[in-house]
Amino acid sequence: MNNSESFIGKVRSVTGSTLAIELDANIGSTLPIIDGILYRVGQIGSFIKIPFGYVDLFGVVIQAGSDAIPEKLIEQDGIELGSRWIKATLIGERIGKEFERGVVQFPIADDEVHLVTSKDLKLIYGGFDEERSIVVGQVSASEGLSARVDLDKLVNRHCAILGSTGSGKSNSVSVALEAIATKKGLNNSRILLIDPHGEYGRILKSHSQIFKVGADKSKDEKELYIPYWALTFQEFIKSFPGKLNEKQEEFIREKVLEKKIESSKKMSPVSKEEAITADSPIPFSVKQLWFELDDFERQTFQRRAQPETSTLDETDIGDAETLKSNKYTPAGNGGAAPFMNNSAQGILGFLNLMRNRLLDHRYKFLYKLDKLTPNLNGEIESDLDLLIKDWIGTEKPITILDLSSIPSEIISSISGSVLSIIYEFIYWGQDLDVGGRQTPILFVLEEAHNYLKSGENSISSRIVQKIAKEGRKYGAGLLLVTQRPSELDETVLSQCGSVIALRMTNSNDRSHIRSAVEDSLSDLVELLPSLRTGEGLIMGECVKLPMRTKFSKAKESKSTDPLASVQWKNGPLTDSNYQKVIIGWRNNEFS
Ligand SMILES: Nc1ncnc2c1ncn2[C@@H]1O[C@H](COP(=O)(O)OP(=O)(O)OP(=O)(O)O)[C@@H](O)[C@H]1O
Ligand SMILES: [Mg+2]
Repeated sequence: MNNSESFIGKVRSVTGSTLAIELDANIGSTLPIIDGILYRVGQIGSFIKIPFGYVDLFGVVIQAGSDAIPEKLIEQDGIELGSRWIKATLIGERIGKEFERGVVQFPIADDEVHLVTSKDLKLIYGGFDEERSIVVGQVSASEGLSARVDLDKLVNRHCAILGSTGSGKSNSVSVALEAIATKKGLNNSRILLIDPHGEYGRILKSHSQIFKVGADKSKDEKELYIPYWALTFQEFIKSFPGKLNEKQEEFIREKVLEKKIESSKKMSPVSKEEAITADSPIPFSVKQLWFELDDFERQTFQRRAQPETSTLDETDIGDAETLKSNKYTPAGNGGAAPFMNNSAQGILGFLNLMRNRLLDHRYKFLYKLDKLTPNLNGEIESDLDLLIKDWIGTEKPITILDLSSIPSEIISSISGSVLSIIYEFIYWGQDLDVGGRQTPILFVLEEAHNYLKSGENSISSRIVQKIAKEGRKYGAGLLLVTQRPSELDETVLSQCGSVIALRMTNSNDRSHIRSAVEDSLSDLVELLPSLRTGEGLIMGECVKLPMRTKFSKAKESKSTDPLASVQWKNGPLTDSNYQKVIIGWRNNEFS
């Protein structure tokens, strides 16, 4: 190949790092073929090269056609401009065999502009340390060139995968996770994937451990328990419906603290009493708490404010275990005995809802915890360390929390609670090998818009914001997946160092992506509606340059869309299958 083969035009003007380039008159009628590969000139998102002494400058095409002509030139009379222009923004330079982002020198008018050949692309996209990168597909512009991303940056600097429905997000997540799980030498990788549709269990089967509410043990699934007592007080109290005013909440907080201190004395080693707060992950019996609060509200006395004259009905005593209230003689009318408990907080309504929730079998994962359920004295058989080891310490690199059988209104609180417990764990373990600094963890959140709504103050959005802001320091990374970037909290999106943008047809969503990528590249976002399924633009810290990538296809994908033209040929449908569906539906499982 000689230089003239790749020549496409000349620089006409330079504004900052943006170049206006006039294409050569001969380009376009013939598409250049170099070393047997056909090149299309001026495609948005493609690269151009400007040889510049002993370095080459590289730019990416952001606009093509007459819009790319600089206004100053249009205003000058008598110049034949044509429409064969492109606008490119400078992104990096090659010195010797090294490609680096950013440029220190700028071209001037009349400098030659050349095509970027697959050899150049290898240089730009290659040069990755194989140990520290994973392959997720092929570079679209050059067949046979693997698309590599920097694993450290991907995990540590957070990443968002965005695209319309069916654009291939779940597939790209699977491909990336599979690449990590099968990478040689990574024996201790830790990934926690929150899977609202239960679609990953099959795809990542051999690399993952599934936790599920209503687990099917025959499929090696494990039951998901989230101990209420390990949540902070705020999250614990918010797990019940019903409102409390500040004073009432404070009252209950004191009670919880008392209970935690009481139980801590029975644990070994005993925690320092002065260090315990209502937020400490110390077991206490929520039933006992309910019973005592309830009793306090109901008490009446024969003589005003004298508890020893209690009217408790001894023949029908209450019971914490079964959540049965104590009974008292109702308070008299018009100031007559018996008298109400003056210190009562007026929270009987709340306690009633609390009782309902404790009995609600859908919330079993939170309050009925097998060996982690504290007895009425606050003692437990197993402890939190074993639970967390089970969650993130398994031999399988990926832990999947399959939330497909959980009512949608509580998905957000479950995922938030798990994230919160694990994040606290890796934070407190920061100086130990199980902490995040020594063994980082990647949290993958599918359908992130569901629990990260902008402006919402839920446990999940609070904890994800926290991880987005400070997770990097403690070894916690986020991989957020969503089809609705416009619903995602903007501060979280802006914390993502890398963005993988797949096909995106909605312009409102595109403008959100635009704000998340660096300014000089924001025009590339216009490319997104035209991407093929499974094709995406990888931008940001995990790649040296924005990389238009065709993702590989994950091995076994449940999300393969049904094909009406094929499947409508099957039939007739059997009657018994209708019944099977209803049985499965009632039992919360797929038949
Ligand atoms: N790289 C690819 N190569 C071939 N087929 C792909 C590729 N990526 C995705 N597909 C196919 O496209 C369809 C949609 O993919 P996928 O489920 O990953 O999309 P999605 O963006 O996660 O959609 P949703 O928003 O509905 O979850 C599937 O049938 C999948 O097999
Ligand atoms: Mg999906």
